Amino acid sequence: MSLLRPVILGCGGYLPETVLTNADLAKIVDTSDEWIHERTGIRARHIAAEGELTSDLGTEAALQALERAEVEAKDIDLIILATSTPDNTFPASAVAIQANLGITLGAAFDLQAVCSGFVFALSTADNFLKSGQFKRALVVGAETFSRILDWEDRSTCVLFGDGAGAVVVEAQKLSGADNDRGILMSELRSDGRHREKLYVDGGPSSTGTVGHLRMHGREVFRHAVTNISNIIEETLARSGYSAEQIDWFVPHQANKRILDGTARKIGLDPEKIVMTVEKHANTSAASIPLALNVALEDGRIQQGDLVLMEAMGGGFTWGAVLVRW
Ligand code: ACO
Repeated sequence: MSLLRPVILGCGGYLPETVLTNADLAKIVDTSDEWIHERTGIRARHIAAEGELTSDLGTEAALQALERAEVEAKDIDLIILATSTPDNTFPASAVAIQANLGITLGAAFDLQAVCSGFVFALSTADNFLKSGQFKRALVVGAETFSRILDWEDRSTCVLFGDGAGAVVVEAQKLSGADNDRGILMSELRSDGRHREKLYVDGGPSSTGTVGHLRMHGREVFRHAVTNISNIIEETLARSGYSAEQIDWFVPHQANKRILDGTARKIGLDPEKIVMTVEKHANTSAASIPLALNVALEDGRIQQGDLVLMEAMGGGFTWGAVLVRW
């Protein structure tokens, strides 16, 4: 049997030059390196320069992903940008990335699922490519959360950072065997009853302003451990793989304690969890491709490895994607 399976050909990342450490933050709000690190695992985050847009970050990550995939921009016919911090309300920042890369083929659009954005975007690309509607996709997660933080609110401004990551995905005719490379499956969930636990208090249709991020931290924490554990277990059950067979877990990087709690709850080997939260903080939709990029650059993820990505974010939204690298 032969079928179209989307294969990830290359990955790239981009972090803005400016690094803001916990010590730097302690000069702005009443906090300390000790408090932030103990509660979250975060030591530093990158902050976009003035005038540096989400689409600029995404373009840099996309260029690196294209180079590593050995794919030319002109051969991309789908761009999906996961972001909650677009350059403008419209048009989609994905079309700015498309224009920056000189692409005129196919379609480009933004997808909004907050911190789960990359998982939702990769799953969307998977379905478009499997159907044969598009051939080669750039899936980008890019964020400038520094622009929607309330820098006087110590309970939120210490948690987030800016950055971008991208992957090139190509539909290939493969046998359909489990050891073929490619995206094996994805699971996506949302529950809008919790939309006020993590939200931005502005928007074009409500206040006419951009607004600032607001969060009920403890409740988000509680739901995150439960939802992430459930989605991993459901994905494993449907795929037929056990947790032991997964080579690498590449989670959304919100908080080390959420990841430790999840690992304990379902018995994951902590050594198999890729963590970048210490240096990147929570970059929302960019965090998974940035973490993938780190684990590919340092040689942890190798071709043939089973990689499980998962995320949970505002909405709530949550999901997982299982890939044979
Ligand atoms: N520095 C010092 N003290 C602080 C800070 C800070 N940056 N922020 C809050 N505090 C204080 C509070 O004022 C409070 O003081 P009080 O007891 O005198 O009132 C105390 O610390 C405890 O505050 P809590 O909010 O109860 O602290 P908690 O232990 O819940 O930790 C945290 C807060 C880290 C935000 C935690 O709730 C959390 O990790 N939640 C998950 C949030 C998250 O990761 N969201 C990301 C988006 S969702 C996702 O991606 C999964």
